[in-house]
Amino acid sequence: MQAFSSKRTIAVSSGKGGVGKTLTSIHLAAASAKHGSNTLIIDGDLGLANVDVLLGLKAENSIFDVITGRVGIEDILLRGPMGITVMPAGSGIAALQNLDAGLRDELIAGIKFVAARFDTVIIDTGAGIAETVLQMNRLANINLVVTTPEPHAVTDAYALIKVLSECEDIPVIALAINQVRSEDEGRRVFERLSEVASKFLSARLVFAGSIPTDPAIQRGVMARRAVQENSNFTLAGQAWTQCFHRIINANDEWRTVIPKKISALAAPVEGTHT
Ligand SMILES: Nc1ncnc2c1ncn2[C@@H]1O[C@H](COP(=O)(O)OP(=O)(O)OP(=O)(O)O)[C@@H](O)[C@H]1O
Ligand SMILES: [Mg+2]
Repeated sequence: MQAFSSKRTIAVSSGKGGVGKTLTSIHLAAASAKHGSNTLIIDGDLGLANVDVLLGLKAENSIFDVITGRVGIEDILLRGPMGITVMPAGSGIAALQNLDAGLRDELIAGIKFVAARFDTVIIDTGAGIAETVLQMNRLANINLVVTTPEPHAVTDAYALIKVLSECEDIPVIALAINQVRSEDEGRRVFERLSEVASKFLSARLVFAGSIPTDPAIQRGVMARRAVQENSNFTLAGQAWTQCFHRIINANDEWRTVIPKKISALAAPVEGTHT
């Protein structure tokens, strides 16, 4: 499985659910679109998708309809705010979480076909270390893990980082700390994780940013307008924009290489704690 070598493909993942992956994905996509980049956001949280909902869009069809052969993958694309293109996945469809390897490969081939037209591709994945999440990460050349400062979220982030590092051979993993009370709090979480990773893992962690808890974000979520042209005026919006620019300004060491242990991909993922 090859990453899109010529473009920026960012997989946004987390160990624990509910830490802000989708909001991070949406805001990175907005920052990318404002930067003038032709941007696609893929809802990779198969079966529990909600990118369309948070953007106030109505998805008539989704990845599920592509898999069942009802429509082509091009037909499900939606135009979101700021010209972002959205590839919605289905919600409440258990079958999407249990795709067999053949269907998953077909889906990935379709995603790659569509993604090839875009300069920036952002993949919002599901929480945890399921095969689909790992597969989405294999498509990316930038692997971003999101956590909050809560101890159980940090433990689960480390578990995911361990799998990305040790099973997927991803050498550089970016970390964003969401819902912080201060920039320093985020930095401290990053430094703690980075120190442990440097002792036990082969991957190196890089700091992508701290995003504050921001009531304006919750209001946006409730209004199904999680991101808007003027999101840059919110504290969290500014932090996510900074995060995007940190990512695009980072030098090549951020870019991950194609995983070496392709054979390990088929194997079940084992326990992840050190
Ligand atoms: N920076 C923030 N400021 C305020 N609220 C936030 C922030 N980030 C996340 N939230 C809150 O957390 C909720 C969950 O965020 P989001 O849906 O992005 O998480 P997720 O990791 O994608 O969840 P899931 O694992 O279920 O896909 C949001 O609806 C919002 O209420
Ligand atoms: Mg989500």
